[in-house]
Amino acid sequence: MIEQLKGRPLLTWLDFEASDIRSLLELSQTVKAQGRRGEVHQRFAGKTLAMLFEKRSTRTRCAFETAFGEEGGHPVFLSGQDIQLGAKESLEDTARVLGRMFSAIQFRGFKHSTVETLARYSGVPVYNGLTDDYHPTQALADIMTLEECFGPSAGKKLCFVGDGRNNVARSLLVICSKLGVNFTVITPAQLVPDRALVEKCAPLSVASGAKIRVTDSIEEVQGADAIYTDVWISMGEEDKKEERVRLLRPYQVNQELMNKTGRKDTVFLHCLPAVKGEEVTAEVIDGPQSRAWDEAENRKHTIKAIMLATLGC
Ligand code: CP
Ligand code: NVA
Repeated sequence: MIEQLKGRPLLTWLDFEASDIRSLLELSQTVKAQGRRGEVHQRFAGKTLAMLFEKRSTRTRCAFETAFGEEGGHPVFLSGQDIQLGAKESLEDTARVLGRMFSAIQFRGFKHSTVETLARYSGVPVYNGLTDDYHPTQALADIMTLEECFGPSAGKKLCFVGDGRNNVARSLLVICSKLGVNFTVITPAQLVPDRALVEKCAPLSVASGAKIRVTDSIEEVQGADAIYTDVWISMGEEDKKEERVRLLRPYQVNQELMNKTGRKDTVFLHCLPAVKGEEVTAEVIDGPQSRAWDEAENRKHTIKAIMLATLGC
């Protein structure tokens, strides 16, 4: 097991060494293979997981809940309607109490500072299941899927086409910078990833050899191993719909854009949920180049690996 990860929270990949991320990818492959062979393990027996959700979720909730439960653990789903999450009692106090009753905590919600506070005060591993700023468990599944298609991800070209400032693009920027994946963000000037994060990732990419590009030109998909997109309007940003559609319409991933890579084996990735007809056409996401469904399945394997490592199971 990956001893040094025991007890650690996962808030963003910025806090992890590349070698630790690689170990988690290997463990993800192992648990996927175990599942395929029909092996039954009870590695979370006697453990409990609090699953806090301020925002909706299909994949993340189901991945955490099934990965934990099928190994004998007891996951407890708690929506913002159910508990005092910063209401009536302080977030710090909620974190302290949860830490006394649960082995680990998953949080999905708005402010990144909430998941940081939970990690600081609970004393147990806390997993970021998506905040306004980051979606790290998604990024691990994305790299796992890329590697299933093309082998080791270092030196591969991944292009994110769409809202370059969102949580998914930001997490890909971090993990690619760490792992040496050449990452191109293709987005209009108004939606580039924030400068502070790009500057934080610059030395990481120098160390790993990753080439990081931010551009508004869709022609830069040339040679890409994978094209990735996400919704134009993330949860909590519904009031931005009109502006986003206007800015991002030219960045829709359709067959014409896929063909611009000049490669027939380029794959299409999407974290899901997808709004077909906006950021991607049905032809592409339901077509032969799409690996979005493998990617969704890999959420479960990668999340199980993260929990196994951080709980020391
Ligand atoms: N990709 C992802 O996080 O999906 P959900 O919002 O359904 O959890
Ligand atoms: N950027 C999207 C990701 C959903 C998984 C959102 O935050 O809504």
